Amino acid sequence: MTELFDPWEKARKFKYSGTIRALYPLSPKTKMPSSIKRPNYGREAEGVRVVAQLAREALEEVAAIVRPGITTDELDRALVAAAVKRGCYPSPLGYHGFPKSVCTSLNEVICHGIPDQRALLDGDILNIDVTLYHNGFHGDLNATYPVGDSARANETNMRLTHTARTCLDAAIAICGPGMPYAEIGHVINPIAEKNGCVVVRDYTGHGIGRVFHGPPSIFHYPTKKAYGIMQPGHIFTYATCNTNSSIEPMINLGTELRNIEWPDNWTIATADGSYSAAAEETLLITEDGVEILTAKGGPQRLDTTAARERQMEARRARK
Ligand code: MF3
Ligand code: CO
Ligand code: CO
Repeated sequence: MTELFDPWEKARKFKYSGTIRALYPLSPKTKMPSSIKRPNYGREAEGVRVVAQLAREALEEVAAIVRPGITTDELDRALVAAAVKRGCYPSPLGYHGFPKSVCTSLNEVICHGIPDQRALLDGDILNIDVTLYHNGFHGDLNATYPVGDSARANETNMRLTHTARTCLDAAIAICGPGMPYAEIGHVINPIAEKNGCVVVRDYTGHGIGRVFHGPPSIFHYPTKKAYGIMQPGHIFTYATCNTNSSIEPMINLGTELRNIEWPDNWTIATADGSYSAAAEETLLITEDGVEILTAKGGPQRLDTTAARERQMEARRARK
C-alpha cells in the first residue's frame, strides 16, 4: 500500500484552521466515457485566441490597401475575402441587421460606419473595425489609419490617432487579476485630456467570446457604472466575458461629447463634426497580467504585476 501523507505538512507554510487534514495521494484521475460530451473548461481562451489572430491578419490585409481613391466598399470586399480565406464569418454581417462585413469610420464618424461607394480622400483618417467568428468564437479589434500623405502631415489628426492608441496601451498595461474594471477609465481619461481630446461616453468596450458583445461594459472614462474585478480562469463559462475583454477607447478632438446618428441607424458621428479616432484589442486576463490576443505577430503576454500595484496605490490615494 502506498504511504498516505499530508501534502502541505512541510512544503508550505499553510496553516490549517481546524483539525481536518488533507490525505494524499489522490486516487487516479477519472476517465469518462468518450461518448459523453465534456464541458470545455479552460478552452474558451484557446478558441478566442485562434480567431483573434485571424482577425488581426484580416485587419492587416485590409489596412495594406488603404490609399486615396479606394472605396470603403472595396475594403469591405477585401475583408470578406480575407475572412473566407481563413474559414471565418465576418461577425458584423447581419448583426442586428448591419448590412456589411466590417465597420469603416471616417473622420468625424466615431464608430459603426457602413462601407459604401465613397472613395477615400488624401487627408482622411479611417478606423477599420474587424470582428471575425470562427469555430464558435469572436475576435474583435480596430485601428485608425491616416489616408495619404496629407493625413500623415496633419499634426492634429496624427495626435488624435496616436492618443487613441496610447490610451489603449496605457489601459492594457494595468489589466490583470484583482484590477477593478473601473480603473481603466481613470487611466485613459487624463491621457486623452492632456492631448486635447475627450473620451467618448456613449460607446464602450465589452466582454467577448462565444457572444460578440457580452458583459462587462468597459467604460473608458471614470464612472460609477463600471463594476467588477478582473479575474483569471473564468473563461470556462459564459462569464468568459469577464476575461476576454476588449477595450476600445474612442477619442474625439476638442470637447464635443454629443453625437448624432445618421439616418442609416448605424453610423455615429460627433455632433460638431470634430474628428474621432479609436483603437481596440481583444484581451485575456491571465494569472500575472494580460494577454493581447489580437496582437500583431501573435498573442502577446504581459506581466503587469508592478503596474497594477502602482495603480492600486493611486486608487487608494484617490479615495
Ligand atoms: N466591432 C464593433 C465593436 O468593436 C461592433 C460592430 S457592430 C456592427 O464592438 F454591427 F456595427 F458591426
Ligand atoms: Co470592434
Ligand atoms: Co468591440
